[in-house]
Amino acid sequence: MKTDAKSLPNLKEAANRTKSPIQITSAKSKPSDALKSWAKGRKYCIYTYGCQANVRDSEYLRGYFENIGLTETEEGTEADITIFNTCAIRENAETKIYGELGRMKQPSQNNPDMIVGICGCMMQEEKPLNFIREHFPYVNLIFGTHNIDDIYPLMNEIIERKNRVISVKSIEGDVIEDMPSKRFEKYKAFVNIMYGCDKFCTYCIVPYTRGKQRSRKVEDIVKEVEELKAKGYKEVTLLGQNVNAYGKDFESPITFDVLLEKVAQTGIDRVRFMTSHPFDFQERVFEVMGNYSNIMPALHLPLQSGSSEMLKKMNRRYDRNIYLDLVQKLRKHVPDVNLTTDIIVGFPNETEEQFEETLSLVREVVYDSAFTFIFSPRPGTPAARMKDETPAEVKKARFLRLKELIDEQATYTASKFVGQIVEVLFDTVSKKDKTKISGYERHGRLVHVDGDESLIGQIKKVKITSSRTYSLMGEIIDDWRRSSKSWSN
Ligand code: 5AD
Ligand code: SF4
Repeated sequence: MKTDAKSLPNLKEAANRTKSPIQITSAKSKPSDALKSWAKGRKYCIYTYGCQANVRDSEYLRGYFENIGLTETEEGTEADITIFNTCAIRENAETKIYGELGRMKQPSQNNPDMIVGICGCMMQEEKPLNFIREHFPYVNLIFGTHNIDDIYPLMNEIIERKNRVISVKSIEGDVIEDMPSKRFEKYKAFVNIMYGCDKFCTYCIVPYTRGKQRSRKVEDIVKEVEELKAKGYKEVTLLGQNVNAYGKDFESPITFDVLLEKVAQTGIDRVRFMTSHPFDFQERVFEVMGNYSNIMPALHLPLQSGSSEMLKKMNRRYDRNIYLDLVQKLRKHVPDVNLTTDIIVGFPNETEEQFEETLSLVREVVYDSAFTFIFSPRPGTPAARMKDETPAEVKKARFLRLKELIDEQATYTASKFVGQIVEVLFDTVSKKDKTKISGYERHGRLVHVDGDESLIGQIKKVKITSSRTYSLMGEIIDDWRRSSKSWSN
């Protein structure tokens, strides 16, 4: 098969940041007649890895595929086009993909028309792209995070010319509005408010794989939320790598609190947002959170390390005291806030004392839960070039100590919900037992109750009867069947 390498990734170029203004454009890709006739009666499958930005990108791809008449299947080996939307944040996210791709070998031999595609952050890096190019000859479509809107011409190239196509752009990126989209959920939606990141934390690959920070216009975001509300959506999560830097890239900058307030004023039942960065945090966000009951009392505030020296080496631009001060202010405005975080253990040459500073900060703050990671060197980032003498076993042992503390705190904070009445937006019926249903309460805790799928999409009051580390169990108390029963008694 001939390879048409239109463009290849280049991590160095991807780190360039210019002052040139961000282009806001509309989706322009149109399907050819040949593509439309190819799609007739065929199926697609998308496997999504990584963060919510990838989930949203997969929703765009679903939109493009459904618009040409492809139907979805959950099994990639049965599809005519299977896409792996990949993540590059840590090495294990990447190695997992190679195993998954292997499953496509046989089906692609049985179906010579099959398109096996790979996209997402991992394809923005030279090394994994070249590895796939060499070891997975049946992967015939490779594209990146900046060119989802090129999906039709890229597919066309394969269908009409039987070429293998590689098209990855290492650019700052633009904002493309009006891309087709088919969302995964009916009541909860992710809404991008910005793309990319300019923070360049020394361990992180994201600024290279997703380009420069580009904010969407307030009007476009508010319009999207209003449309979702009109369709019956109950919850939106505003998405960005660093939402507190929202609007900094505009010619006349605005701040995230202004956007958050406008979104709350749409009257949609629930507003969440993620992820925040302590450096860019405006205190007014806390005030807005406290003033609007439809902004959920939850904040994900990545810490990364409790040691100011480590934070400096990570290029985080805040220190231990600034972080602690922020948490204090947050709790003043939103006393019942559910506080979660991300922590990296084993950053190059982290000492025992520095690690213990993380433990002591965690003890002081008391988190509701946390994602904890062992540092994973990402080629091309400054931290990957730092000498690291700490043995892997030491890192693993620290990781387990931290995990134990976090689990202890999560168990304790969950137990405080027992006996309380919470509001749950139900979204999932248990796969194993159709009489069990779950959803999230306002703080973001997972709640399980007895109930059936008629409750999906509804917000109900639930009395919490017991707790586990990462979930709560309860009983619906405003269910009409129960109240009519008690009335007839
Ligand atoms: N190694 C380990 N964890 C990382 N994260 C980002 N990059 C790395 C890395 N190279 C973690 C950070 C971030 C979360 C999304 O992933 O904690 O907040
Ligand atoms: Fe990565 Fe830091 Fe940007 Fe978050 S803020 S995406 S950790 S560079």
